[in-house]
Amino acid sequence: ETPSSFSNILIDWYGRHRRPLPWRDTTDPYAIWLSEIILQQTRVRQGLPYYLRFLEQYPTVFDLANAPEDEVLRLWQGLGYYSRARNLHFTAKQVVEQFNGEFPSTYRELLLLKGIGSYTAAAIASFAYKEPVAVLDGNVYRVLARVFGKHENIAAPASKKVFEELANTLIPATEPDTYNQAIMEFGAIQCTPVAPDCLFCPLQRTCFAFQNGLVNVLPVKEKA
Ligand code: ADE
Ligand code: SF4
Repeated sequence: ETPSSFSNILIDWYGRHRRPLPWRDTTDPYAIWLSEIILQQTRVRQGLPYYLRFLEQYPTVFDLANAPEDEVLRLWQGLGYYSRARNLHFTAKQVVEQFNGEFPSTYRELLLLKGIGSYTAAAIASFAYKEPVAVLDGNVYRVLARVFGKHENIAAPASKKVFEELANTLIPATEPDTYNQAIMEFGAIQCTPVAPDCLFCPLQRTCFAFQNGLVNVLPVKEKA
């Protein structure tokens, strides 16, 4: 696929298949950040009520920053990985103290926050500020590896650059936010790890993995 037909196909697919999720209807960087931290190691169905409860209890980053830590941890109960909750609280305080409560508006500046890595920075920058920077999560790796026939081991840190460069050539300047949501949703619903829906896939004709019988081979994921 050319970059523009690839993104157009995904965006078109997304329009027909997207699940209505509350963090998709906001451009508030705080709400977007909150959703991405919660969803990092948690499924949408499990994370959704936590997202709503956190936003109700702490509508702004100031509310979260000022909350007592034990209250934040209590609200997090059931999600596991408590380091995420501590990190969440820490980052909120950092945003308040170092940025006057305003999330930085660029990918680069977002990375200056201790608790924000490249995935979360790209999500906030694109969803809240429409910066054309590609998100890379497991779903995105899988879709790119299959469609473009990338055999690099996605578990190897050195592969990240290859996928990052490819992903950033594909992201459209016009709606980078929709495109990022679209490719993640496509990986979650259509191009799934096991038994992807290749027979009803809009990328089937040009998908390298499908055309070459490699759907069960790609992505390559080998722990060292
Ligand atoms: N998982 C991580 N981020 C997500 C998002 N923005 N929408 C749906 N699922 C997600
Ligand atoms: Fe994924 Fe199959 Fe579609 Fe290729 S044809 S993008 S492997 S669902």
